[in-house]
Amino acid sequence: MQQKLDFLRQSLRNLRMTGSVAPSSRFLCRRIADKIDPEKTGVVVELGPGDGVITDYILKRLHPDGRLLVFEINDTFVAKIKTRFEDPRLMLIHDSAAHMGRHFEKMGIEKVDYIVSGIPFVMLDEALSEAIIQECRNWLATGGLFVQFHYSPLLLKVYRRIFGNARVEFIPLNIPPALVITCHKN
Ligand SMILES: C[S@@+](CC[C@H](N)C(=O)[O-])C[C@H]1O[C@@H](n2cnc3c(N)ncnc32)[C@H](O)[C@@H]1O
Repeated sequence: MQQKLDFLRQSLRNLRMTGSVAPSSRFLCRRIADKIDPEKTGVVVELGPGDGVITDYILKRLHPDGRLLVFEINDTFVAKIKTRFEDPRLMLIHDSAAHMGRHFEKMGIEKVDYIVSGIPFVMLDEALSEAIIQECRNWLATGGLFVQFHYSPLLLKVYRRIFGNARVEFIPLNIPPALVITCHKN
């Protein structure tokens, strides 16, 4: 309960940045994390982890030798993630997803296998949203997946234009009900 109240407090302070009033439900987290193949060693990236609800599910699916890089801009959520997880596979980057490329280059990462995003692109500046989504496509390895959740289908056309495909699943048991959009890097 305390976790939900803390999340709500952050949302009320920065609704445009947070884009939601409650953390994702376990049904939504599970549906997203299930896209990750636990047999595959690789690099998973999470954009906008908030207080880490989806992060927790991803870490449970991640291969023991895999890596999870998370990008978060909200100071309070960054502090929360730092205290919540001690997993050596997790690396927290306190910066915008818009700068993912410079961090990957510094780390010597050439391609990533999955990008999971909770960034509320619908509420951000259109050019910035498109630049981040395009950057996601650029950094994904061929065969990699981009998984995004939203509360409306508004940006579906953008994902279809950038990736050439987008599969949509409806998750009713979430506040509010959500859509999971999965794009394949061909
Ligand atoms: C809808 S919340 C999702 C939180 C959590 N993943 C969940 O499912 O409950 C969106 C998150 O994206 C973060 N965010 C917004 N813009 C961002 C950006 N440009 N780069 C990284 N994180 C961003 C917000 O601070 C917030 O934590």
